Amino acid sequence: MIATHVVPRHVAIIMDGNRRWAKAHGLPLSDGHRQGVEALRRTVEAAARLGVEVLTVFAFSEENWSRPVEQTRAIMELCCSAALGQMNDLVRDGVRVRLCGRLAALPSPTREALDRLCASTAKNSRITLNLAIDYGGRREIADAVRALAREVERGRLSASAIDDDTIATRLYTAGLPDPDLVIRTGGERRISNFLLYQSAYAEFSWTETLWPDFGDEDLAAAIDDFARRQRRYGT
Ligand code: IPE
Ligand code: MG
Repeated sequence: MIATHVVPRHVAIIMDGNRRWAKAHGLPLSDGHRQGVEALRRTVEAAARLGVEVLTVFAFSEENWSRPVEQTRAIMELCCSAALGQMNDLVRDGVRVRLCGRLAALPSPTREALDRLCASTAKNSRITLNLAIDYGGRREIADAVRALAREVERGRLSASAIDDDTIATRLYTAGLPDPDLVIRTGGERRISNFLLYQSAYAEFSWTETLWPDFGDEDLAAAIDDFARRQRRYGT
Protein backbone atom coordinates (compact mmCIF):
# COMPACT_ATOMS: atom_id res chain seq x y z
CA MET A 1 0.00 0.00 0.00
CA ILE A 2 1.28 3.46 -0.82
CA ALA A 3 0.02 6.30 1.35
CA THR A 4 -2.23 8.77 -0.38
CA HIS A 5 -1.72 11.50 2.24
CA VAL A 6 1.12 13.76 1.23
CA VAL A 7 0.75 15.91 4.33
CA PRO A 8 1.03 13.78 7.48
CA ARG A 9 -2.17 13.93 9.54
CA HIS A 10 -0.24 13.57 12.77
CA VAL A 11 3.29 14.86 13.36
CA ALA A 12 5.07 14.09 16.64
CA ILE A 13 8.20 15.94 17.74
CA ILE A 14 10.90 15.16 20.29
CA MET A 15 11.94 18.74 21.05
CA ASP A 16 15.53 18.08 22.09
CA GLY A 17 18.56 20.35 22.46
CA ASN A 18 17.25 23.25 24.55
CA ARG A 19 20.01 23.23 27.16
CA ARG A 20 22.71 22.81 24.50
CA TRP A 21 21.26 25.85 22.73
CA ALA A 22 21.45 27.87 25.98
CA LYS A 23 25.05 26.76 26.62
CA ALA A 24 26.05 27.62 23.06
CA HIS A 25 24.66 31.14 23.57
CA GLY A 26 26.22 31.58 27.02
CA LEU A 27 22.77 31.80 28.63
CA PRO A 28 21.21 30.13 31.70
CA LEU A 29 19.74 26.70 30.89
CA SER A 30 16.21 27.94 31.56
CA ASP A 31 16.56 30.40 28.66
CA GLY A 32 16.92 27.40 26.36
CA HIS A 33 13.56 26.07 27.46
CA ARG A 34 12.03 29.54 27.20
CA GLN A 35 13.22 29.80 23.60
CA GLY A 36 11.88 26.29 23.13
CA VAL A 37 8.38 27.56 23.94
CA GLU A 38 8.79 30.19 21.20
CA ALA A 39 9.86 27.48 18.75
CA LEU A 40 6.79 25.48 19.71
CA ARG A 41 4.50 28.44 19.09
CA ARG A 42 6.03 28.95 15.62
CA THR A 43 5.82 25.25 14.84
CA VAL A 44 2.16 24.93 15.85
CA GLU A 45 1.32 27.77 13.48
CA ALA A 46 3.44 26.33 10.66
CA ALA A 47 1.90 22.87 11.13
CA ALA A 48 -1.63 24.30 11.06
CA ARG A 49 -0.85 26.24 7.86
CA LEU A 50 0.53 23.09 6.22
CA GLY A 51 -2.66 21.18 7.05
CA VAL A 52 -1.39 18.92 9.85
CA GLU A 53 -4.33 17.83 12.03
CA VAL A 54 -2.48 16.76 15.17
CA LEU A 55 0.87 17.88 16.53
CA THR A 56 2.16 15.90 19.51
CA VAL A 57 5.19 17.30 21.28
CA PHE A 58 7.36 15.69 23.93
CA ALA A 59 7.52 18.49 26.48
CA PHE A 60 8.57 16.55 29.58
CA SER A 61 9.27 12.88 30.08
CA GLU A 62 8.75 10.64 33.05
CA GLU A 63 12.56 10.27 33.10
CA ASN A 64 13.07 14.07 33.20
CA TRP A 65 12.02 14.06 36.88
CA SER A 66 15.49 12.72 37.70
CA ARG A 67 17.09 16.02 36.62
CA PRO A 68 18.22 18.48 39.34
CA VAL A 69 15.14 19.76 41.13
CA GLU A 70 15.81 23.41 40.24
CA GLN A 71 15.69 22.44 36.56
CA THR A 72 12.44 20.48 36.83
CA ARG A 73 10.91 23.28 38.89
CA ALA A 74 11.89 25.87 36.27
CA ILE A 75 10.35 23.75 33.49
CA MET A 76 7.12 23.28 35.46
CA GLU A 77 6.93 27.03 36.11
CA LEU A 78 7.53 27.68 32.44
CA CYS A 79 4.72 25.27 31.48
CA CYS A 80 2.43 27.11 33.86
CA SER A 81 3.31 30.63 32.69
CA ALA A 82 3.30 29.65 29.00
CA ALA A 83 -0.12 27.98 29.35
CA LEU A 84 -1.60 31.10 30.95
CA GLY A 85 0.30 33.58 28.79
CA GLN A 86 -0.58 31.95 25.48
CA MET A 87 -4.15 30.99 26.27
CA ASN A 88 -5.81 33.91 24.44
CA ASP A 89 -3.64 33.52 21.35
CA LEU A 90 -4.28 29.78 21.17
CA VAL A 91 -8.04 30.31 21.53
CA ARG A 92 -7.92 32.93 18.75
CA ASP A 93 -5.75 30.78 16.48
CA GLY A 94 -8.04 27.74 16.60
CA VAL A 95 -5.62 25.48 18.46
CA ARG A 96 -7.19 22.75 20.57
CA VAL A 97 -4.82 21.72 23.37
CA ARG A 98 -4.97 18.30 25.01
CA LEU A 99 -2.64 16.50 27.40
CA CYS A 100 -0.88 13.18 27.10
CA GLY A 101 0.80 11.77 30.19
CA ARG A 102 0.16 10.54 33.68
CA LEU A 103 0.11 14.13 35.01
CA ALA A 104 -0.35 13.13 38.66
CA ALA A 105 3.13 14.34 39.62
CA LEU A 106 2.72 17.86 38.19
CA PRO A 107 2.72 20.72 40.71
CA SER A 108 -0.87 21.87 41.16
CA PRO A 109 -0.45 25.39 39.65
CA THR A 110 0.96 23.80 36.47
CA ARG A 111 -1.77 21.17 36.36
CA GLU A 112 -4.47 23.81 36.89
CA ALA A 113 -3.05 26.13 34.21
CA LEU A 114 -2.87 23.26 31.71
CA ASP A 115 -6.40 22.12 32.57
CA ARG A 116 -7.65 25.69 32.02
CA LEU A 117 -5.85 25.84 28.70
CA CYS A 118 -7.45 22.56 27.58
CA ALA A 119 -10.91 23.66 28.71
CA SER A 120 -10.71 27.07 27.05
CA THR A 121 -9.49 25.64 23.72
CA ALA A 122 -11.71 22.53 23.71
CA LYS A 123 -14.01 23.80 20.95
CA ASN A 124 -11.20 24.69 18.56
CA SER A 125 -10.66 22.51 15.52
CA ARG A 126 -7.99 24.05 13.28
CA ILE A 127 -5.22 21.89 14.78
CA THR A 128 -4.84 19.74 17.89
CA LEU A 129 -1.76 20.33 20.02
CA ASN A 130 -1.20 17.23 22.11
CA LEU A 131 1.23 18.01 24.94
CA ALA A 132 3.14 14.99 26.23
CA ILE A 133 3.99 15.95 29.79
CA ASP A 134 5.13 13.52 32.48
CA TYR A 135 4.96 11.00 29.64
CA GLY A 136 6.63 7.61 29.31
CA GLY A 137 5.70 5.12 26.60
CA ARG A 138 6.20 1.92 28.58
CA ARG A 139 4.33 3.30 31.56
CA GLU A 140 1.50 4.37 29.24
CA ILE A 141 1.26 0.78 27.99
CA ALA A 142 1.38 -0.54 31.58
CA ASP A 143 -1.47 1.85 32.52
CA ALA A 144 -3.51 0.59 29.54
CA VAL A 145 -2.84 -3.07 30.37
CA ARG A 146 -3.86 -2.47 33.99
CA ALA A 147 -7.09 -0.77 32.90
CA LEU A 148 -7.89 -3.71 30.61
CA ALA A 149 -7.06 -6.27 33.32
CA ARG A 150 -9.48 -4.51 35.68
CA GLU A 151 -12.22 -4.64 33.06
CA VAL A 152 -11.61 -8.35 32.57
CA GLU A 153 -11.62 -8.90 36.36
CA ARG A 154 -14.97 -7.15 36.59
CA GLY A 155 -16.40 -9.24 33.79
CA ARG A 156 -16.90 -6.23 31.49
CA LEU A 157 -14.47 -7.42 28.86
CA SER A 158 -13.52 -10.83 27.61
CA ALA A 159 -9.77 -11.48 27.38
CA SER A 160 -10.20 -12.96 23.91
CA ALA A 161 -11.74 -9.69 22.67
CA ILE A 162 -8.53 -7.71 23.32
CA ASP A 163 -6.96 -6.53 20.08
CA ASP A 164 -4.95 -3.56 18.75
CA ASP A 165 -7.94 -1.23 18.89
CA THR A 166 -8.93 -2.23 22.42
CA ILE A 167 -5.43 -1.31 23.56
CA ALA A 168 -5.30 1.94 21.54
CA THR A 169 -8.48 3.23 23.19
CA ARG A 170 -6.86 2.89 26.65
CA LEU A 171 -3.70 4.83 25.74
CA TYR A 172 -3.28 8.53 26.60
CA THR A 173 -3.71 9.24 22.87
CA ALA A 174 -7.16 7.61 22.67
CA GLY A 175 -9.15 9.17 19.84
CA LEU A 176 -6.13 10.50 17.94
CA PRO A 177 -4.77 8.99 14.73
CA ASP A 178 -1.33 7.33 15.00
CA PRO A 179 1.63 9.60 14.20
CA ASP A 180 2.68 9.44 10.56
CA LEU A 181 5.92 11.32 11.07
CA VAL A 182 8.14 11.56 14.16
CA ILE A 183 10.78 14.30 14.14
CA ARG A 184 13.65 14.50 16.60
CA THR A 185 15.76 17.63 16.86
CA GLY A 186 19.13 17.97 18.57
CA GLY A 187 21.04 15.27 16.71
CA GLU A 188 20.24 12.12 18.73
CA ARG A 189 18.73 9.21 16.84
CA ARG A 190 16.67 7.39 19.41
CA ILE A 191 13.04 7.18 20.41
CA SER A 192 13.51 7.67 24.19
CA ASN A 193 10.30 5.95 25.27
CA PHE A 194 8.10 8.27 23.14
CA LEU A 195 4.85 6.95 21.59
CA LEU A 196 6.18 3.39 21.46
CA TYR A 197 2.87 1.77 20.60
CA GLN A 198 1.53 4.51 18.36
CA SER A 199 4.59 4.98 16.14
CA ALA A 200 4.60 1.38 14.85
CA TYR A 201 4.32 2.57 11.23
CA ALA A 202 5.66 6.11 11.57
CA GLU A 203 8.39 7.57 9.40
CA PHE A 204 11.29 9.12 11.31
CA SER A 205 13.13 12.34 10.62
CA TRP A 206 16.30 13.38 12.46
CA THR A 207 17.84 16.82 12.42
CA GLU A 208 20.93 18.33 14.02
CA THR A 209 19.01 21.58 14.54
CA LEU A 210 18.58 22.34 18.24
CA TRP A 211 14.90 22.75 19.14
CA PRO A 212 15.01 26.53 19.88
CA ASP A 213 16.30 27.08 16.32
CA PHE A 214 13.61 24.90 14.70
CA GLY A 215 11.30 26.84 12.42
CA ASP A 216 8.84 26.78 9.54
CA GLU A 217 11.48 25.74 7.05
CA ASP A 218 12.66 22.76 9.11
CA LEU A 219 9.09 21.53 9.46
CA ALA A 220 8.39 22.04 5.76
CA ALA A 221 11.62 20.15 4.89
CA ALA A 222 10.70 17.18 7.11
CA ILE A 223 7.21 17.06 5.60
CA ASP A 224 8.63 17.35 2.10
CA ASP A 225 10.95 14.42 2.77
CA PHE A 226 8.01 12.46 4.24
CA ALA A 227 5.95 13.10 1.10
CA ARG A 228 8.66 11.50 -1.03
CA ARG A 229 8.77 8.26 0.95
CA GLN A 230 6.60 5.29 0.11
CA ARG A 231 4.92 3.79 3.11
CA ARG A 232 4.33 0.10 2.54
CA TYR A 233 3.04 -1.13 5.93
CA GLY A 234 4.85 -4.43 5.42
CA THR A 235 3.32 -5.15 2.02
C1 IPE B 1 14.52 18.76 25.79
O1 IPE B 1 15.67 19.57 25.83
C2 IPE B 1 13.41 19.33 26.65
C3 IPE B 1 13.18 18.61 27.91
C4 IPE B 1 13.65 17.41 28.16
C5 IPE B 1 12.38 19.26 28.94
P1 IPE B 1 16.80 19.26 26.87
O2 IPE B 1 16.47 19.94 28.16
O3 IPE B 1 16.96 17.75 26.97
O4 IPE B 1 18.11 19.91 26.25
P2 IPE B 1 19.48 19.18 25.93
O5 IPE B 1 19.17 17.97 25.09
O6 IPE B 1 20.12 18.83 27.23
O7 IPE B 1 20.27 20.20 25.16
MG1 MG C 1 17.97 16.33 25.79
